[in-house]
Amino acid sequence: MNFNQQSMATVHPLPVPEPPPEERPVLVLDLGGQYAQLIARRVRDARVYSELVPHTLTAAEARRRNPVAIILSGGPASVYAEGAPRVDEELFSLGIPTLGICYGAQLMALELGGEVARTDASEFGKTELEDGAGALFAGLPPQQTVWMSHRDTVVAPPVGATVTGRSASTPVAAFEDPARRLYGVQFHPEVVHTPYGQDVLKNFLYGIADAPPAWTPAAVIEEQVGRIRVQVGSERVICGLSGGVDSAVAALLVYKAVGDQLTCVFVDHGFMRSNEAEQVAETFGGHFQVPLVHVQAQDRFLARLEGVAEPEEKRHRIGEEFIRVFEEEARKLSRSGQQREIRFLVQGTLYSDVIESGGTEGVAAKIKSHHNVGGLPDDMAMDLVEPLRLLFKDEVRRVGEELGMPERMVWRQPFPGPGLAIRIIGEVTRERLDILRAADTVLQEEVRRAGLYRDLWQSFAVLPAIKSVGVQGDERTYAYPIVIRAVTSEDAMTADWARLPYDLLETISSRIINEIPGVNRVALDISSKPPSTIEWE
Ligand code: XMP
Repeated sequence: MNFNQQSMATVHPLPVPEPPPEERPVLVLDLGGQYAQLIARRVRDARVYSELVPHTLTAAEARRRNPVAIILSGGPASVYAEGAPRVDEELFSLGIPTLGICYGAQLMALELGGEVARTDASEFGKTELEDGAGALFAGLPPQQTVWMSHRDTVVAPPVGATVTGRSASTPVAAFEDPARRLYGVQFHPEVVHTPYGQDVLKNFLYGIADAPPAWTPAAVIEEQVGRIRVQVGSERVICGLSGGVDSAVAALLVYKAVGDQLTCVFVDHGFMRSNEAEQVAETFGGHFQVPLVHVQAQDRFLARLEGVAEPEEKRHRIGEEFIRVFEEEARKLSRSGQQREIRFLVQGTLYSDVIESGGTEGVAAKIKSHHNVGGLPDDMAMDLVEPLRLLFKDEVRRVGEELGMPERMVWRQPFPGPGLAIRIIGEVTRERLDILRAADTVLQEEVRRAGLYRDLWQSFAVLPAIKSVGVQGDERTYAYPIVIRAVTSEDAMTADWARLPYDLLETISSRIINEIPGVNRVALDISSKPPSTIEWE
């Protein structure tokens, strides 16, 4: 379960060694481009395991990882700018198939005897690629739309390479040197605006690098199960379930690996959406038969929030209380019967967290602090089991599906750890929680009915604790408003408000007002992030 940093008790997870290298990864050298992570994801979409690594990777390190291919990402800098990132030139002599994208292609040209011109004209957006030829474009139309985003431009390819594509303003939009296994494209094959981009990547991976498409959810499960067994041995493991997809998939992987050595603890703080707690209990305790402790702590949490309206104070109290409850349960379990002490704690750390916290440097894990909730205080230090450390969110979902998790749980929109408590603006009371939960249910039902649930990053209701005047029947009302918040986003760093159809908004509004006593007004939040945030608190 994730809470914000502010709500943290001090937790000191034991260092976790980096996982041993995959069979043969595709290494994506991060040259600072906004799409570097996306490249790794696209490669994995092609079912080839890929890792993001710093551009400072040396040829010797690369050789040790034995990659099946190397990709140089784009980057924001001009190759001529002071301090512009460079790569170890030796990388190009390893005989490993290497693809430079945008800045990466320019760097290859610059280092290998080609020429990069500083142009004043930048090329940005959709561009027509002409004369696409060679191995990268095998089986693809020679003329196709590609997405460009650059200022400098390659005017002569590396010595020995041939030009395999151009555009109106770029004489060298693609090049290849099959003998040295070096390839470059000025455009971005990884973005959706390049319709054949994934095919270009597949040509590189399958046709040029001969990489097998073996990175499937089933393979991931098999490998993780093996790793967990090695790590855990015959020791006991504990896992906190939050209702979200990450902790659920992590728990199921561990259960598949070590069975009843795992106990899941689900702390119900009472701020979940309707039926969510029941679904967790039913799915884990019922369907999958995972040993589950369901802690009904609703009253405790509500009592801790009495009189508290300040958002950070709410988060802090919820986070603290969560750790207290979890710790109590863990201690009880550790001492129960003849059972051995619990030595391992499962965490749903994702690959994107590992990247963000500098994990691609190959150093021991520095886990983002808010991921440590569910972690335990010093005197209960346990080793971490992190079966999702190599996975992006969409891969976690696919693994969840493969493990047989219900669709509703796998595709659930993100939900904050403190739950509905930070969607009531003002003090949290039982009455307000009930109203908000009911409004949220209507909203989710209608969004799903409209077929939009998966298109939205999040859609939810907010209850500002103010009242306004209305009239219902012949009666004057004085009741709460509900605010509808729906956003689209890639990663929650930025978000846009979703243009929900008017008819849908009308249905949601009239159902909320008619079906939920205590609400007489519905408003729509039309703010993007930034400057607003997705949540109201
Ligand atoms: P904001 O509101 O900062 O949210 O734009 C970005 C994403 O993070 C989620 N969020 C949280 N998740 N604990 C969490 O686990 C929290 O305290 C928390 N606050 C926001 C939010 O739902 C969105 O997906």
